[in-house]
Amino acid sequence: MILFRKGDELKKYLIAKTGQGLNIGFVPTMGALHEGHLSLIRAAKERSDLVVSSIFVNPTQFNDQQDYLHYPKTIDQDILALEKSACDILFMPDVKEIYPDNYLPLSYDLGFLETVLEGKFRPGHFQGVCQVVDRMLEIVTPGLLFLGQKDYQQCMVIERLIQLKHPSTRLLIVPTMREKNGLAMSSRNLRLSTTDRVKAEAIYKGLMKIKAQLQQGTLQQLCEEVSNDLLDAGFEKVDYISISHATTLAPVNEWDGKTPLVALAAAFISGVRLIDNIPLT
Ligand code: PAF
Repeated sequence: MILFRKGDELKKYLIAKTGQGLNIGFVPTMGALHEGHLSLIRAAKERSDLVVSSIFVNPTQFNDQQDYLHYPKTIDQDILALEKSACDILFMPDVKEIYPDNYLPLSYDLGFLETVLEGKFRPGHFQGVCQVVDRMLEIVTPGLLFLGQKDYQQCMVIERLIQLKHPSTRLLIVPTMREKNGLAMSSRNLRLSTTDRVKAEAIYKGLMKIKAQLQQGTLQQLCEEVSNDLLDAGFEKVDYISISHATTLAPVNEWDGKTPLVALAAAFISGVRLIDNIPLT
């Protein structure tokens, strides 16, 4: 695996490779890699000639400074895991490389997506995600970009970014990897105690309860029940339990039995904010 720290050097290298007809697959990450990330690398390996991954904890997407400061870092292990997965190139820039002193933050028109769910509860978060992914896509110019379905809304935001600025890249979304108890794999799980990891299965159980009990008609009571189930299981705060339109994320309060749906959740356990989702139809 070749390590690059400078964007212009990586760009030059990849332009030469694309010129030789190689198809580039890109897996951006913030490190603290787990099986979910490695499944993205495997998916990229299957579909591309050259797999590029990045590790960069992006300061502009953290609306909470404490979350940024406490974001888990396991660089040595990450490098070993990427090498084992036969990742070809690792891009590990520092903050100044991505945001040089002359960097002018762009503003992205994300429309309704930025006003609901993660957009509502984490103001500015998706602008920060777009800033870093836009910079990365400019450097890597991949044919394929691989993201995990755990970040359902982020996938929609990045699809929009691609439409706006990178039409030659195609997004592939890889299913969520879960622990045995159903907990979605996430770098933030590293911050959970063993007991909290067990309690945190309630988020998956809640989403599965929605899937099992979904019926045409009013949905609000089901969401409230699941929200209370999470509080009973030991979550201290629930940002949302939502049943939303699967392709617009508009909340669906009254279901006609046909509209495609996704159930999404965000909740805090011992100060750690977890998100998850399950497509319902
Ligand atoms: O999902 C993540 O890990 C991050 O949001 C991403 C896409 C790497 C951008 O920093």
